[in-house]
Amino acid sequence: MTAAPGVTTTPDETPQHIGRYRVVESIGKGAMGRVFAAVDEAIGRRVAIKVMMGDLEDETEVRERFYREAKIMGQLSHPNVVTVFDFGESGGHPFIVMELLEGLALAGYLATPAAAGVDAKIGLMMQACEGLQVAHNHGVIHRDIKPSNLFVQRDGTLKILDFGVARLAQSHLTRAGFLLGTPEYMSPEQAQGRPVDARSDLFSAAAVFYWMLAGQGPFASPELPKILRAVVSDPPPPLTDAQAPEPLRRVLKKALAKSPAERHQQCVDLLAELEQVRRGLDGATRRIEQAALDWYKQILAVIEERRVLGRSFGVTGADASCDEAVARLTARFPVLAAHMTPGALLEPIGRVAAAAALESLKRRHNTEVAALAALRSEAAEALRPQEERAAGGAESSDQGASVRDRAAALWRRVTKD
Ligand SMILES: Nc1ncnc2c1ncn2[C@@H]1O[C@H](COP(=O)(O)OP(=O)(O)O)[C@@H](O)[C@H]1O
Ligand SMILES: [Mg+2]
Repeated sequence: MTAAPGVTTTPDETPQHIGRYRVVESIGKGAMGRVFAAVDEAIGRRVAIKVMMGDLEDETEVRERFYREAKIMGQLSHPNVVTVFDFGESGGHPFIVMELLEGLALAGYLATPAAAGVDAKIGLMMQACEGLQVAHNHGVIHRDIKPSNLFVQRDGTLKILDFGVARLAQSHLTRAGFLLGTPEYMSPEQAQGRPVDARSDLFSAAAVFYWMLAGQGPFASPELPKILRAVVSDPPPPLTDAQAPEPLRRVLKKALAKSPAERHQQCVDLLAELEQVRRGLDGATRRIEQAALDWYKQILAVIEERRVLGRSFGVTGADASCDEAVARLTARFPVLAAHMTPGALLEPIGRVAAAAALESLKRRHNTEVAALAALRSEAAEALRPQEERAAGGAESSDQGASVRDRAAALWRRVTKD
């Protein structure tokens, strides 16, 4: 603990120093305090310092809680939990010194391309579960899991912040029934002021996961009483297929059960199910990718058939036309084309891209097959003995055209695309 001489820190001004730390800038403000970027000049390390609000200064319990946060976080060493370096008091204001994170709060990160897609989101959810499980293993309940307490670093590592209201699970404070936290992500038992355990954090985490998928929390409302009522008694509005695949919806539904007994009992259990969902999606992705590749190969085969038929007809430009069709296909689906080269280094196609390609490939395949069928029947017709055609009567006007001319005309028609 750092003992600091009386440096004045008024709540709304940015102090120059906090303890032995030189303040660089203010980076955030929350319900319990303000956060500054600062430098530990003794070792030249950049840090983040959370300073407790002035008006809480005289509240022993909140103050005590603040120090408890520091101690608890100091005990936890895990990539998904923010690291605490130090804590102390400056000008009567308790502060906590932690690693300065570079990246984005979860809301900001979700708006970046890196977070697009349900796979990326499940990856973040799994990291949150891991960090929480470690805290729970230490007997610590976070009690305030919400989007602003989840931070994503540049390398994609998610960190749980702000064990500011966390208390030791066995603590006498737990039994006080004090209402803490953000109502929108609160568990029903917490909203009702009842005792909470790890399953309460699990519920809040699932509420944040829902928000990640839906863009709004499961109990969102502009009115506080309505939020509380929804938390306690309303099922969350169902997520759509586009927001989350069915297996993921099932997992979240269980995690958001009103009764703790009906939820996953530990974050590792939720983590395991999320992992299973992700594996299932991977499997589904591979099946769609394979289907796209199969259709692509089919189209190539039809083009080659056309080439053979064109050649046997002696159609001028048959090869060139088929080459062009292949080139068009390659340009339109470069990733699929790359998969046709033996031994090539392949990038994954991706579910969304593969599904989109699939539709377009099916249409192209139909066109090619129709073109080939037309060419075939025209060939059969052209090759029929002349007398037979004459006997048919209807085609006699064609008699002047040579087989070759008619095939060439047909060829132009079917390759016009
Ligand atoms: N260690 C940190 N490194 C970088 N930014 C942080 C750190 N801790 C907190 N912040 C930022 O400061 C903001 C305010 O934090 P906080 O006081 O916990 O308020 P709240 O969580 O209620 O928004 C957070 O949203 C976060 O973006
Ligand atoms: Mg916070």
